Amino acid sequence: MMQHLAELAYLLAAVIFIIGLKWLSSPLRARKGNVLSAFGMLIAIVVTLLDKQIVSYGLIAIGLLIGTVLGIWMAYAVKMTAMPQMVGLLNGFGGGASLLVAAAEWYRLIQPGQTLTTGTAVTIYLSSLVGGVTIAGSVVAALKLQGWLVPDRPVLFPGRHALSIGLILTVAAMGIYLGYNPGTMWAFIVLNVASLILGVQLVIAIGGADQPVVICLLNSYSGIAAAMTGFVINNHGLIITGALVGASGIILTNIMCKAMNRSIWNVLFGGVGVVVAGSGGDKGAAMRAKGVRTITPEDTAALLGYGKLVIVVPGYGMAVAQAQHQVRELADLLHKRGVEVLYAIHPVAGRMPGHMNVLLAEANVPYEALQDLDQINPNFDRADVAIVIGANDVVNPAARHDTSSPIYGMPILDADKAQHIIVMKRSMNPGFAGIENELFYDSKTQMLFGDAKKSLLTLINEVRVLE
Ligand code: TAP
Repeated sequence: MMQHLAELAYLLAAVIFIIGLKWLSSPLRARKGNVLSAFGMLIAIVVTLLDKQIVSYGLIAIGLLIGTVLGIWMAYAVKMTAMPQMVGLLNGFGGGASLLVAAAEWYRLIQPGQTLTTGTAVTIYLSSLVGGVTIAGSVVAALKLQGWLVPDRPVLFPGRHALSIGLILTVAAMGIYLGYNPGTMWAFIVLNVASLILGVQLVIAIGGADQPVVICLLNSYSGIAAAMTGFVINNHGLIITGALVGASGIILTNIMCKAMNRSIWNVLFGGVGVVVAGSGGDKGAAMRAKGVRTITPEDTAALLGYGKLVIVVPGYGMAVAQAQHQVRELADLLHKRGVEVLYAIHPVAGRMPGHMNVLLAEANVPYEALQDLDQINPNFDRADVAIVIGANDVVNPAARHDTSSPIYGMPILDADKAQHIIVMKRSMNPGFAGIENELFYDSKTQMLFGDAKKSLLTLINEVRVLE
């Protein structure tokens, strides 16, 4: 009876997760979707605590307390710009948990009087492999993004492919050996250590620019590892949840690759980012020789305040400056003057999926004003001003025609089609792709140099004093 009730509760939690995921796909309901999914997780945890033979409630309570304190601290302390590495670490913990549960179950089942069936053994080994790759890979990805200990560039050393093949063969050999000799401790340890090294090896060869994609992929791996662990401990809730995470992670990875016009193989094995420039080679030098035009906040205010349509193009720099509230304040002022303001949201603007949506929603920008690439692009040629706030790669016209550019083929926002383009950034430094931006040298473009937040505050004052 209890078992049936528990299964029903897991099913209910799974349905809640699916509805929660559905809600997450719209910024309007995303917050509710998150709360709903958290409620589903609460049901799953409570049922597990009631249903399974718990060894020690005391230890669980201590773990829960430590986890809750750490979680709340991280939620408040970690800056929005550091969210990708935090998500990366959280995925990693999921993978690590799967690895530990698989190891514990393996150890229990090789004791005298217990039987380790072939089916359980296979899922334990897969859980160890995927869990090991996920935790090690996620830690390296997070360190790369945070700029700690591991270099941001792809670390490519001679013989790395041979090492990867060697590790894969070792994992396979240990799996087979353990199939015949399930209780061999050294083989199980080698399997786990090889999985961990494989995780480091796979991620260390990928440049910092591609780490958000890697994090989504590792998110998917953490789901697969959890589903495997669900099979190991025969927990249907875990199997369904793991499958949902695995599937959504891979869908997100696919969306991000498409938005950058790259294949997942190119991301994983392309070593993109080895030559980080400031460059653009001869073309870059020729562009730099042309120089750029600058503009004052007063003149920018006049251009904006007397226009009919202004399109805001936010990018990573807006997130760094935390300028989203000032962006909204400026838009409100322009609205009051009868100027239409739209926001052009590129799918990979910033450093994580939905980065711009989240920030602008936090500043209460109306959702209807946010337009994605296909919606907004036809509007640029009727815009008086495109105001590019800390965006760079996502408005680089080189993506359209320069076959030698690393971003060639990436769909971009057509900011260059507006009558005037104002670019707000601190210097002529490149964006994430490390390349010169043709847009900055366009005859219609004027640069408003400075930190985005400070520049916006000055701009807001200038718009206020317009007649
Ligand atoms: P970027 O091309 O990275 O450019 C950001 C610009 O912001 C920089 O040029 C920087 O110039 C400026 N900036 C930094 N701090 C600033 C501040 N305080 N005030 C004003 N400007 C500031 O950004 P993007 O256009 O958003 O493009 C995103 C890039 O990340 C793309 O290459 C994309 O492929 C990559 N990427 C994104 C994702 C996701 S999911 N979003 C995933 C993988 C890769 P200064 O230093 O001169 O100020």
